Amino acid sequence: MVTLAQKVLIYGGSGGIGAAIGRSLRSRGVDLHLVGRNEARLAAVAQELGVTSTLGDVNDSSLFSKVAQDAGAVLDGLVYAVGTINLRSLGRLTEADFLNDFRVNAMGAALAIQASLPALKKSEGRASVVLFSSVAAVQGFTFHASISMAKGAVEGLTLSLAAELAPKIRVNAIAPSLTRTRLGESLLTNEQASTAIAGMHALGRIGTPEDIASLATFLLSQQADWITGQTISVDGGRSTLRSKG
Ligand SMILES: NC(=O)c1ccc[n+]([C@@H]2O[C@H](COP(=O)([O-])OP(=O)(O)OC[C@H]3O[C@@H](n4cnc5c(N)ncnc54)[C@H](OP(=O)(O)O)[C@@H]3O)[C@@H](O)[C@H]2O)c1
Repeated sequence: MVTLAQKVLIYGGSGGIGAAIGRSLRSRGVDLHLVGRNEARLAAVAQELGVTSTLGDVNDSSLFSKVAQDAGAVLDGLVYAVGTINLRSLGRLTEADFLNDFRVNAMGAALAIQASLPALKKSEGRASVVLFSSVAAVQGFTFHASISMAKGAVEGLTLSLAAELAPKIRVNAIAPSLTRTRLGESLLTNEQASTAIAGMHALGRIGTPEDIASLATFLLSQQADWITGQTISVDGGRSTLRSKG
């Protein structure tokens, strides 16, 4: 029997992966607080799941304390499923691109955890934090310099905070390969591209938000009580296996 957290805060709760995690947790009776940037998208998911939410942009430093206040005094889990996709050659990447990817993917995660630390420390059991890296942090892909750098920072943050916050709080990251969400869809512009990319995965398909939500749900449960400081790939084998195609 999986014992799950009572209350989880999801940054990016209106996104493909964040909403799938929300649905999975909600179906198991977990209370949620969601954060997103687009008002209509956030309101739709919050209404569907019957949970509270805070609207805002992680580029705005005042968001984090507001979220911490709105999310309640006690949290058992925090998910930071916010990200960018900005694939360009090095020559076309500006300083602003690098800084934005770092801010949204890595620094935002650090600030989110920092602001919610008092609530996570009040969890009755051991609280769990789930961050998001990417296959691109450990595999070299052209045009990924900025996002790969930012996700590498997320993996460093995962390790460092797992040590610092133990034993009260576990910190892990999930590293997906291409997954069908709004963010992922920009690379899946047509059937031909989708088939070609699917074939680069040993398991022969593109990921779904539910593939990723399964691991997040597990990491947020007490069944993962002895797992911390890990970045775990959910990637159809992309990071480690050669496809047969
Ligand atoms: N999909 C993939 O192929 C893939 C692969 C590797 C890693 N990942 C990682 O997985 C995580 C979830 O991505 P996803 O695929 O679910 O993307 P998504 O569907 O685009 O969702 C992203 C979420 O983040 C929110 N968000 C984006 N920028 C924000 C900002 N500046 N301030 C506040 N919220 C912001 C979005 O809110 P709005 O809807 O309001 O914009 C949305 O809720 C990300 O960390 C991503 O890097 C995804």
